[in-house]
Amino acid sequence: MKIDILTIFPEMFSGPFKESIIKRAQKKELVEIKIHNLRDWTEDKHKTVDDKPFGGGAGMVMKIEIIDKALNDLKTKKSKVILLTPQGKVFKQKMAQEYANLNHMILICGHYEGFDERIRENLIDEEVSIGDYVLTGGEIPAMVVVDSVVRLIPGVVGNDESIKDESFSKGLLEYPQYTRPADYRGKKVPEVLLSGNHAQIEKWRQEQAEKRTKKRRADLLKS
Ligand code: 6GU
Repeated sequence: MKIDILTIFPEMFSGPFKESIIKRAQKKELVEIKIHNLRDWTEDKHKTVDDKPFGGGAGMVMKIEIIDKALNDLKTKKSKVILLTPQGKVFKQKMAQEYANLNHMILICGHYEGFDERIRENLIDEEVSIGDYVLTGGEIPAMVVVDSVVRLIPGVVGNDESIKDESFSKGLLEYPQYTRPADYRGKKVPEVLLSGNHAQIEKWRQEQAEKRTKKRRADLLKS
């Protein structure tokens, strides 16, 4: 998979993609991630990417021609173009699974008061938000989307079982986990986990996952 990220703050990405699993995925050539500075597509001396809104009002608006030029250079027939803004469809595990099958993803990080509406109407495939809170820009959301998608590409996470079993993919939160010592200052690990009875353990874990989901995230059970 190829991922192109369009941003006016490319430096923000220098940390997260250079560590751990995402770093290894790039090294193994399971994914190619490229960060692009949107100002590279400007032609004026001040490298302007935004302008005042028609009709007045506070803040600045991202200009259409910059995004148009960038996409003309990067887009292919197989590209999916995703705009990250608080007004988008809320990102879920199911969307991460769909994106993990894509050939090419282009993520555009939003800023300022917003985008010229013609960008939304003409240049992108999807608009995505990562949740109901306001962030200063789309960079952190882009990192969130990339992280959740890349770890689902086959071969990226060592043990495929750990992906199948995890929270959300089965619609339930994860069951409680314990490791040694079995007794820490009188705080004991549930007896069943020490029993060696795998059928019993499986049953206990399923019950715990359901109980926890019901208590913390009843909304997940409905869907
Ligand atoms: Cl994608 N952008 C911004 N600025 N804020 C957000 C968001 C995106 N998703 C949730 N909050």
